[in-house]
Amino acid sequence: MRKTLLAALLAWPMGLLAQNVANYQIVPLPRSIEQHEGSFTLTAQNAAQSVRTHIDPSAKRWAQYTVPDEAYEIEVGKKGIDITAATEAGLFYAQQTLRKAMQMPEASLNEVTGEYALPYVTIKDAPQFPYRGVHIDCSRHYFPVEFLKKYIDIIALHGCNVLHWHITDDQGWRFEVKALPDLTAKASRREHTVIGNNCMSGNGEYIFDDTPEMGFYTQDECREIVRYAAERYINVIPEIDLPGHMVAALSVYPELGCTGGPYEVWPLWGISDDVLCAGNDKTLEFLKTVLGELADVFPSKQIHIGGDECPRTRWGSCPKCQAKMRALGMKKAGDLQSYINKELDKFLAQRGRDVIGWDEILEGELSENSIVMSWRGYEGGIEAARKHHRVIMTPTTHCYFDYYQSKERQPLSIGGYVPVSKVYSMEPVPAELTAEESRYILGAQCNLWTEYVLSEDHLQYMLLPRLCAMSEVQWVNPDQKDYTAFTETRLPHMLKIFKKLGYTYSPYVE
Ligand code: ACM
Ligand code: ZN
Repeated sequence: MRKTLLAALLAWPMGLLAQNVANYQIVPLPRSIEQHEGSFTLTAQNAAQSVRTHIDPSAKRWAQYTVPDEAYEIEVGKKGIDITAATEAGLFYAQQTLRKAMQMPEASLNEVTGEYALPYVTIKDAPQFPYRGVHIDCSRHYFPVEFLKKYIDIIALHGCNVLHWHITDDQGWRFEVKALPDLTAKASRREHTVIGNNCMSGNGEYIFDDTPEMGFYTQDECREIVRYAAERYINVIPEIDLPGHMVAALSVYPELGCTGGPYEVWPLWGISDDVLCAGNDKTLEFLKTVLGELADVFPSKQIHIGGDECPRTRWGSCPKCQAKMRALGMKKAGDLQSYINKELDKFLAQRGRDVIGWDEILEGELSENSIVMSWRGYEGGIEAARKHHRVIMTPTTHCYFDYYQSKERQPLSIGGYVPVSKVYSMEPVPAELTAEESRYILGAQCNLWTEYVLSEDHLQYMLLPRLCAMSEVQWVNPDQKDYTAFTETRLPHMLKIFKKLGYTYSPYVE
């Protein structure tokens, strides 16, 4: 009797456990989920015949969506699973939805092991915004290619379609330029890094960590990243931050600075007064060499040319910059940045590219095709949309993932407080804009600067689970966002997936 009971107890729950039940309440929430009575059992044996994909390019079928080329429909019924989309990207998003629903994020549907019960359902889905970006700063700290691939996997899991790759800055040059080999040979290495101030002695001297930080990406490695991302329908937009944030480059080409240097790869964080000399014609020559090679390596239609935080201090007293201003009839030093932007805009336009710049680029004249990345709040984005420039919203208040995410004890961060709830509350289209102006808002992006982020685990911790919230901002129709359902149902489901994949994430959802 005892043995029989034990056998029954063992057999019954095992039978139940063998079948995983798909749950369609995933992140980002699909636009429409109509569940019906019954379920289809997907197994390793029937997967090959039961999962069918269809491309239907008819514009009419997808016309209701703002981003038809990424739309998809899933029908689960008696005969299995039918996935339909206008493009391969749509098919990919449908597969991602099912993988997440089944909690098997790594495998394709044809590689199931065990049994999965998929409740009958009709899912119709498409993203709200065409631009769904995630940024990474690989200058302040270098992260290896294998690690970046994992980062791309994470952003693909969230339905994002852009990796904004910040690849040069004051503290390290990490993009190989074949015509300028010293950039990576020398400027990719920082000898020391600030870790504090000596307040005890009262002299406020900086304290440094003397462990060198180094690394760069060869052009072949960059192409490999582009290829890996493209397989996941992610476009890699590289950024060469200019004409400020250039101290690493100045350390090998001091003649491109207004004072002539010497400079060292910058060991401090913040904004340096040393920027490229806008009056020296060699500066444009240098930038065109860099951007020419960059455009050869990265097929992205958009190239980011930075433009943020460029003090005019040096330009104001530099004879070359002053002479350039006189020659071009400029009234203020800031016009020099606009002059550089225009030249590079023309250069990249000849290569079929559009420039993206941080919102400071609005201070000068912009070509019609320039895209503005609004980071100092929403104001830059509003102004740009009103001037009919395309806009990516990434205000510090909601999108800076280098800020603290909890009031609990946290790893040292640069400052600020952007918890999950704050990210989730982001509205990329400001209410001030008219319907016509709103069309210029391409989407949203979260930014992960890495002054204080040194390891892969730490980077994942800063990203997750805030990226879940950003993913819904980018994908879900604002009318369908629901923070309670997100935190109570969908987020726990995603955390189980993170555990399965071995990702590090913050437990604090505030
Ligand atoms: C920025 O955070 N400096 C764009
Ligand atoms: Zn100068």
